[in-house]
Amino acid sequence: MSPFRLTRTLPEDAAGAALRADVLAGLTGSPKTLPPKWFYDARGSELFEEITALPEYYPTRAEREILLARSGEIAAVSGARTLVELGSGSSEKTRHLIAALDGLHTYVPVDVSESALTGAGRALAAERPGLEEVHALVADFTAELPLPDTPGPRLVAFLGGTIGNLLPAERAAFLASVRALLAPGDALLLGTDLVKDVRTLVRAYDDAAGVTAAFNKNVLHVVDRELGADFDPDAFDHVALWDAEQEWIEMRLRSRIAQSVKIPALEMVVDFAEGEELRTEVSAKFRREGVRAELSAAGLELSRWWTDGEGRFALSLSVAR
Ligand code: SAH
Ligand code: AVI
Repeated sequence: MSPFRLTRTLPEDAAGAALRADVLAGLTGSPKTLPPKWFYDARGSELFEEITALPEYYPTRAEREILLARSGEIAAVSGARTLVELGSGSSEKTRHLIAALDGLHTYVPVDVSESALTGAGRALAAERPGLEEVHALVADFTAELPLPDTPGPRLVAFLGGTIGNLLPAERAAFLASVRALLAPGDALLLGTDLVKDVRTLVRAYDDAAGVTAAFNKNVLHVVDRELGADFDPDAFDHVALWDAEQEWIEMRLRSRIAQSVKIPALEMVVDFAEGEELRTEVSAKFRREGVRAELSAAGLELSRWWTDGEGRFALSLSVAR
């Protein structure tokens, strides 16, 4: 069995301080917003896993199909000895890639969700005896990442389409920071959901069983628990809509009534008008040319582009210049 190690990159209260700063900025702005990374406490990570199995939520199945078909090629092109995965969650799809990477020495899953990391990391370490180490990092992938000193070549994977949850300016800064983690010739494996018909897109974010609605409202449970707030999640409706100009899905929480919410940790009261919406996530959808241009601007050369059979989702491999 390969050893499993977990490193918290930030002091205990850093997450609390970051949440307070995000809630203060997001709920005093207009329109009100909250960043999507706060969905993912242990319950949020479980709800996301439930989403990946929903009939309406095609991205996970489409990306798994591509990984199953292309992992051998990804292994051959990258020759990776270290695999760093950002926003790794359950690492479920990554197993196919890890199995194909013959010379892999260390797997470094990076996530804000410690529960997801411990669940995934321990299972993997037990499953893949040839792997020298699984070194999990509890970290924010938009901040500086102190990666362990492990042998190259390095492959950074960012799967699931999570890049679409960053706003365009955040995406550019993020890709530049990923490039800084790579030596020339190292590679980035990037999952991007693609622009498609609006009905398919909206259904994927507004499923019949209401799992995505529960996931969306989970951010209110997190703010209640961590900041002592008195959000009543039942007083908000889940909203998913397609913004055709930005080419992204937006998830919002719409206040059913006029209400005031107390947030003791910030000594603040937030007023919502009836029908007022709080934006909780964007999920951008991409086209090949846009992905190529964004990678290129960060110093990454698109070298392979694969889609699933139905052309719903793309996995790309790009190489650091
Ligand atoms: N890669 C997996 C999980 C995607 S869900 C898949 O494809 O199925 C998005 C994951 O990113 C979650 O596990 C969440 O906890 C993590 N995440 C979201 N924002 C993050 C951030 N800023 N830093 C680190 N992890 C983050
Ligand atoms: C993690 N991320 C890519 C998911 C998405 O599709 O944007 C999060 C999600 N939000 C609602 N459903 C799933």
